[in-house]
Amino acid sequence: MTTLSETASPAGGATDVVLEAEELTKHFPVRRRLRAAFSGERPAVHAVDDVALLLRRGRVTALVGESGSGKSTVARLLAQLYPRTGGAIRLHGAETTVRGGRRFRAYSGKVQMIFQDPFASLNPVHTVRYHLTRALRVHDRVGRGRAETEAALADLLAKVQLTPPQRYIDKFPHELSGGQRQRVAIARALAAGPEALLADEPVSMLDVSIRLGILNLLRDLKEQMDLAILYITHDIASARYFADETQVMYAGRMVEGGDSESVTQQPAHPYTRLLIDSAPDPDRLAAQAGGADPDQSASLDEGTGEVASLIHPPSGCRFHPRCPHAMQVCTAQVPPRFEVAGVTSRGADESGRPAHWAACWLYSPEHAGDAAGAAA
Ligand SMILES: Nc1ncnc2c1ncn2[C@@H]1O[C@H](COP(=O)(O)OP(=O)(O)O)[C@@H](O)[C@H]1O
Ligand SMILES: [Mg+2]
Repeated sequence: MTTLSETASPAGGATDVVLEAEELTKHFPVRRRLRAAFSGERPAVHAVDDVALLLRRGRVTALVGESGSGKSTVARLLAQLYPRTGGAIRLHGAETTVRGGRRFRAYSGKVQMIFQDPFASLNPVHTVRYHLTRALRVHDRVGRGRAETEAALADLLAKVQLTPPQRYIDKFPHELSGGQRQRVAIARALAAGPEALLADEPVSMLDVSIRLGILNLLRDLKEQMDLAILYITHDIASARYFADETQVMYAGRMVEGGDSESVTQQPAHPYTRLLIDSAPDPDRLAAQAGGADPDQSASLDEGTGEVASLIHPPSGCRFHPRCPHAMQVCTAQVPPRFEVAGVTSRGADESGRPAHWAACWLYSPEHAGDAAGAAA
């Protein structure tokens, strides 16, 4: 059987791996009160199982999946906000586990999160100046000198295009628009001097009309600062627009990945195809006119079957109960990653472009024949 290696392609400027997860797993124990319903077992929510992910310098990697698929848990594990049940996280190749304290501060200086709701992530009683100054000081990015701090603050605001700085620096969060607040949250993340940004649905709470501006800002920052960005979204159309690579997650497992163009234009996994078919209009991100909220129209739970239980996840491929192409093997064995070169004819090349893969038995040489034509 041909499976893809999960390890990085040879080191080189464009493919320099900043952060890497392997076999990342998180099971949340079900609260004791609810355990009565599960006599004898120690039930757990299998939120993330056996996830592999690479974040490269100067690249945006999208992590796409419907609500509840484990995306935020992956981000929080990578940020070391949760202890993990299993697996490894490597920062520049070095296995890293931190729990609070100085080591956490050092780690979070390299790996910063941006949350969905900038209003919740900024403290309403503090100004922009306070938020940014505190972040600079916590991460030892400025000394006590006033002029030095002022210059660093102006630089941060300029980076997120809030200029002139004096217009914003003494504002409270409620005096800013949603987009401006998210820019402040991004500036605060940059104050740490990070190499990786984990952006968990950074635009989904914002007005449709300003989403593109924030994504373009993140892309500019990626280019100027050579950042590795994880872009979490349930909107696969925005992944095509914004991300170099895309990985698709379903019920706690990665099901497909590769360069964004291949994954979004020639999706291989039946789940990815379902995601794309349920997304109403691929150009809606660019079409900034108001109207229907794309979040709601992109909801997948209508007419596509039930999302898998994460307490008793389906055996084999977790998508098999919803899959129109399910075969015998799909119910019995977890599919490994298979290259889908036949679909895209784009393997990993010298430039480090990721191979297109799917964790789906349809792409196994031994089983492809069992579902006639399904993968064609
Ligand atoms: N702190 C937690 N305790 C228990 N279950 C959790 C916790 N956080 C997330 N979960 C569960 O893990 C699963 C994945 O959640 P999440 O990572 O938030 O998904 P997503 O971000 O893709 O919507 C969900 O079933 C969710 O209910
Ligand atoms: Mg989430």
